[in-house]
Amino acid sequence: MKVLVVFYSTYGHVYKMAEAIAEGAGEVGGAEVELRRVPETLPEDVLEKMGALAAQKVFAHIPVCTVEELANADAIIFGTPTRFGNMCGQMRQFLDATGQLWAKGALVGKVGSVFTSTATQHGGQESTLLTFHVTLLHHGFVVVGLPYAFQGQMNNDEITGGSPYGASTIAGTQGERTPTENELAGARFQGKHVASIAAKLAG
Ligand SMILES: Cc1cc2nc3c(=O)[nH]c(=O)nc-3n(C[C@H](O)[C@H](O)[C@H](O)COP(=O)(O)O)c2cc1C
Repeated sequence: MKVLVVFYSTYGHVYKMAEAIAEGAGEVGGAEVELRRVPETLPEDVLEKMGALAAQKVFAHIPVCTVEELANADAIIFGTPTRFGNMCGQMRQFLDATGQLWAKGALVGKVGSVFTSTATQHGGQESTLLTFHVTLLHHGFVVVGLPYAFQGQMNNDEITGGSPYGASTIAGTQGERTPTENELAGARFQGKHVASIAAKLAG
């Protein structure tokens, strides 16, 4: 049973969450978990002005995903930073190249799930996750979120990401925050939850 974690990250927050998602998925017996990043679409000089080049070196070793790889997975968990309350353009461009898969119904019945990161607490985590789900539904994915069985979702003692729609982190307006233990726990839970459902569907 193959679980693909496909992400885009500019500054590393989504990457850290992707690692936790993969860790959780790997706890399910028989799960083969692979991390992939979607192609960068911004020119290097723009990335430099955004202060992203150094941050992106940390996950440059992660292979770039091809659309064909999606067809070979049983479950795909997508990670994207929020851009104006939606997924980032890099992820949109990658998904817009999956028309051939859609035409063949190649992703129908696979488990799909989404996690995200925003700068601010109310900067659009839920809108990013829910609007991403629309694309997954067009492809015929069985959409899975982060159920309240993850108890950390009840945590009101600290500022934290995480909603029934998926795991998330709050990066801070200068990217100064790193995913908290509660946010990482949500990501691990989601990864494990998706992989368990995929295992049941595969069996
Ligand atoms: C063009 C652009 C639009 C953004 N829009 C939002 C937004 O709507 N809400 C928000 O809270 N953060 C927004 N951000 C901040 C990013 O979501 C934040 O940098 C990201 O979550 C950090 O994740 P990363 O380290 O994986 O790149 C935006 C950033 C950029 C560059």
